[in-house]
Amino acid sequence: MKICCIGAGYVGGPTMAMIAHKSVDHTVTVVDLNKARIDAWNSESLPIFEPGLDTIVQASRGKNLFFSTDVEGSIRDADMIFISVNTPTKTYGSGSGRAADLRYIEKCARQIAEVSEGDTIVVEKSTLPVRTAESVKRILESNSKGRQFQILSNPEFLAEGTAVQDLEAPDRVLIGGSQCPEGLAAIQKLVDVYASWVPREKIITTNLWSSELSKLTANAFLAQRISSINAISALCEATGADVDEVAHAVGTDSRIGPKFLKSSVGFGGSCFQKDILNLVYLCEHFGLPDVATYWNSVIEMNDYQKHRFARRIVTTLFNTVSDKKIAVLGFAFKKDTNDTRESAAIYVCRDLIEELANIAVYDPKVTEAQMRRELSLATDDTQLTVCKDAYEATCDAHAVLLLTEWEEFKALDFERIYRDMHQPAFLFDGRNILDLNALREIGFEASGIGRG
Ligand code: UDX
Ligand code: ADP
Repeated sequence: MKICCIGAGYVGGPTMAMIAHKSVDHTVTVVDLNKARIDAWNSESLPIFEPGLDTIVQASRGKNLFFSTDVEGSIRDADMIFISVNTPTKTYGSGSGRAADLRYIEKCARQIAEVSEGDTIVVEKSTLPVRTAESVKRILESNSKGRQFQILSNPEFLAEGTAVQDLEAPDRVLIGGSQCPEGLAAIQKLVDVYASWVPREKIITTNLWSSELSKLTANAFLAQRISSINAISALCEATGADVDEVAHAVGTDSRIGPKFLKSSVGFGGSCFQKDILNLVYLCEHFGLPDVATYWNSVIEMNDYQKHRFARRIVTTLFNTVSDKKIAVLGFAFKKDTNDTRESAAIYVCRDLIEELANIAVYDPKVTEAQMRRELSLATDDTQLTVCKDAYEATCDAHAVLLLTEWEEFKALDFERIYRDMHQPAFLFDGRNILDLNALREIGFEASGIGRG
């Protein structure tokens, strides 16, 4: 088959690279309007950082994997088109702040209707509100000129930082489609693509709406676990319990399980908040305000946690951070990615900048331009300094905040950091990566979420 993927982002790029790598019979072309992004995909320096991605891209690029800005040409030739464009939260009009902004999806559907030739299978890869497939179908059919379109939902469950391993050995692949004979045939074609490397029993097929809703629900459940443990972290601080010990004790119950119980400054990333907001909007739309309120509380707890962390820093530093240098280690929303979307670091830095602190940030993969964009700071704004390493960021700082759990931070020479800091020196551990007791022995007044 000729496969086209519209959108060369964090989802489209790695997913298509894996399909091309594993299903060598198919030719995969990833297209994007953003020329700089496509140029980067065709270069030695890929636009996104993911461990292991370089290897699989290099193995297939130019053979059966191509990156191009020729969106129309690629759509015209394709037997199967994945839509993997961004679906941010709407920032205007009705549903602003909650509903998904579907204008990029709609544009793709119109373009497919306009230029595709022959019968085409259209696969929704982006996470979408339930029943989006219906809108896509309506747009395609209104301009079908006798062509047959089948719409499938195939949400992606990869997590950033582990995308390659998640794609290589997924817990499951989910494919939803209409249950008529043509729909079932289309589902089978996509099943065959994945069956090149995913065991058949891990490929789940459902109707369209179940697939769309499953993705939102999976992300809502994961985020809910984090908000639950973060809520308990506040109680631990009030009572003297240790949230790590509580999480461990709770997680050993096989019905609960140990994963996603790490208390943090709050979850970030492009998916959790957006998908829950989406779910909340859907519940309201379908007349279920109590269900909407229930899910919205997961986001409220996350916001509370981010601000609580920033407040705690201010109170610990004698109620003022004005003109104080605060070192921030890590700006990405998690380790092993250069993605900063909704990173807790943004919210913490914003709160501290509002308190007139001077922030010195070091992150191994995030550029200065990206940080300034996220914090809405001009290039000459001196409240932010971006440092070349952790030692430069922490030198003369009053406090160090560990906001992303990059492996390299574990190997830092904290004795040196402590010596070079302004005294008394405080360490705030938001991501639970270091032995706080050992740091206390050096002299740090160490403070981690949940540990008092
Ligand atoms: C998530 C889902 O895991 C993935 O299945 C979906 O396809 C996209 O959304 P992602 O956002 O890439 O993936 O990363 P994830 O590992 O889920 O982490 C999200 C956020 O939660 C990060 O900020 C992380 O630090 C935080 N987190 C995670 C915690 O605070 N505590 C935990 O125990 C786990
Ligand atoms: P995700 O994390 O979902 O992959 P990204 O924002 O990283 O989201 O990537 C989405 C990509 O889709 C962007 O590179 C954007 O330029 C691209 N895109 C959006 N609309 C279109 C379109 N109509 N045609 C081609 N590419 C598009």
